[in-house]
Amino acid sequence: MSFIDIAKARYACRKYQTRKVEKEKLDKILEAARVAPTAANCQPQKLIVVQEKEGFEKVNKTARTYDAPLVIIVCGDVNRAWTRPFDGKKHNDIDTSIITDHMMLQATDLGLGSVWICYFNPEVIRTEFNLPENLEPISILAIGYADGEAQSPDRHDKTRLPIEAFVFRP
Ligand SMILES: Cc1cc2nc3c(=O)[nH]c(=O)nc-3n(C[C@H](O)[C@H](O)[C@H](O)COP(=O)(O)O)c2cc1C
Repeated sequence: MSFIDIAKARYACRKYQTRKVEKEKLDKILEAARVAPTAANCQPQKLIVVQEKEGFEKVNKTARTYDAPLVIIVCGDVNRAWTRPFDGKKHNDIDTSIITDHMMLQATDLGLGSVWICYFNPEVIRTEFNLPENLEPISILAIGYADGEAQSPDRHDKTRLPIEAFVFRP
């Protein structure tokens, strides 16, 4: 698939088969995370890979992960992230979002469904996974084999704004 085909094929998958994600596919997803760019190449990401019952019991205390067989909690280390000198903005959220997107699109290319999850209480994740203060849980990516029909890659005509609505050429 070309890049735009992968981008259009991806959709927020909220129903999964019980089938596990093979190690080879997980390895490719993690490699996509590894090669992603980060500000000043600081690489502040820390990923918690959940595939076992014990981990799901913890993550499901605060997030709806749709019974996906694989969940990756994407955290950013504020001590490692690049800080912009002008306003002190730490880039751990931007960096981890690029990493999450890389993994999500790699999952699509491997024939897997996924959904990006931000609706969770970071404090619960912190407590359940004993995260140190410097690690901020930013996103959760649920991945697995989709159950049911995929959403159409042509749906964006209806579900997205036209380019003219968000591009300005002054
Ligand atoms: C940053 C971000 C956070 C999101 N958080 C959630 C979430 O907590 N729960 C959920 O079910 N979907 C979540 N989504 C999925 C979006 O609702 C979905 O991507 C959007 O409605 C567009 O639909 P599509 O991905 O099927 O094209 C999130 C997506 C993004 C990019």
